[in-house]
Amino acid sequence: MKIYKTADYNDMSRKAANIISAQIIGKPDSVLGLATGSTPIGAYKELVLRCKNGDLDFSDISTVNLDEYRGLKRDNDQSYYYFMNHHLFDHINIDKSRTNVPDGTEPDADKECDRYEKLIDSLGGIDLQLLGLGHNGHIGFNEPAEDYPKTTHCVDLQESTIEANKRFFASADDVPRQAYTMGIGTIMKAKKILVVVSGADKAEIVKKAFFGPVTPKVPASILQFHPDVTIVADEEALSQVLK
Ligand code: GLP
Repeated sequence: MKIYKTADYNDMSRKAANIISAQIIGKPDSVLGLATGSTPIGAYKELVLRCKNGDLDFSDISTVNLDEYRGLKRDNDQSYYYFMNHHLFDHINIDKSRTNVPDGTEPDADKECDRYEKLIDSLGGIDLQLLGLGHNGHIGFNEPAEDYPKTTHCVDLQESTIEANKRFFASADDVPRQAYTMGIGTIMKAKKILVVVSGADKAEIVKKAFFGPVTPKVPASILQFHPDVTIVADEEALSQVLK
């Protein structure tokens, strides 16, 4: 596990974009696993700039997103489908037919999760998976649990996650209660993993997840067992572990 300490959010975003850029340049037909949440937005902005400058070419890139709220229409501005188009896909030269987000509008959870897992396999797996970190240690929407969900599945969101994400909705009541998410097994199969973390409010969970015991009660802790993980975190997020 490599940890890069950055001065602040902007520095974190540029360093994360450097790592993603290196992946794209080294393997122009990479399969990128992408994440939502506020943390990766700065890195996406950087990637957009680099693409507009002609330094990055997404034309052969495929993407698979980690998760999606169950029941939100794709044109809902809180859906992760909308988020990805708004922050990244609309601004780069990617072939949109190669971008994939779980379909939250498919009511048959088993059918959709099975389709998504098979889709990732059919692409040859994920070359680089980008992850944010939830305050309770969730990755994707894999919430703290008694065991690790292996494959893409439907999850009941925990109250703390609904609370954390309500800032994006009119009220907590509007936050969907379920989501489709890649499983921990799906994430762990990615060849490389890049975690971005920012802010003092993440310092405690950074310590638990990356320096504490590996347990499904802190889902991100499993990343300690992955052979190629890079964490890019700002000083505040690392304040409880690195001086
Ligand atoms: C959401 C997403 C996660 C994300 C997490 C942290 O619940 N499903 O993929 O990593 O929130 O979000 P943020 O980066 O806004 O703190």
